[in-house]
Amino acid sequence: MVRWVPKKGLQIAIDGPSGSGKGTVARLLAERLGMPVLDTGLLYRLVGWLMKREGVDLEDEQAVTNRAGELLDEIEWDAQGIRFRGELLDGCLRDEEVGRAASRVAAMEGVRKMLLGLQQQVAQQGCIMDGRDIGTVVLPHAQAKFFLTASQRERARRRWSQLQRSGEDVDLDQIHADIKMRDQRDAARKYAPLKPADDAITIDSTTMRVDQVVDRMLAIMERRGLIEKASSTTG
Ligand code: DC
Repeated sequence: MVRWVPKKGLQIAIDGPSGSGKGTVARLLAERLGMPVLDTGLLYRLVGWLMKREGVDLEDEQAVTNRAGELLDEIEWDAQGIRFRGELLDGCLRDEEVGRAASRVAAMEGVRKMLLGLQQQVAQQGCIMDGRDIGTVVLPHAQAKFFLTASQRERARRRWSQLQRSGEDVDLDQIHADIKMRDQRDAARKYAPLKPADDAITIDSTTMRVDQVVDRMLAIMERRGLIEKASSTTG
């Protein structure tokens, strides 16, 4: 498989709605390029999860922002994942309920501002970062920006099959409705709404396999001189 060498300090921003495949694409790209990948959704999921755990009213923006601020120092976030008070969290952040809470706290300006510095600091040495506002707000100077999308039905289907595999019995129409609601909230929010950066390349993955998406991104970055082939072996 062809391996690639990225330019030193390369920042690759991948944004898009839920179910667009950004997480999978980011991980595969990271393997091909030998770069760290950072999932910013984990930050919002952690804040959502903590607020629910502590019973903080999600309608009360000030209370959420204050509490999140107090907890920020206890969060460690890197390419391995996210830790709270030293404990690596994953499964508990992935369920639908936490996703809904994440989407609500992510609409709060104070919460977003608080997490902005952390994201910019972690990205300094170069990385692949995926989220909703990476190309527009977090890393406006990223050398490569991609906006991944797919039809709502296809994104719902992908999420549904992912949840089925992890043993959750869920209804496809319910997932579709949830995705629709979350899309609206993410796109309509005043601060850092979900939208492609002016200089982002949009890729619609509705009818593409994930490896095709990755190959297209690699080809674009090679053309721009951001990555180059390291070696070529078979197998
Ligand atoms: O990608 P995800 O499903 O893990 O994201 C969880 C929520 O966080 C989702 O509603 C969108 C929000 N989010 C955001 O607003 N900005 C980001 N950079 C990442 C996620």
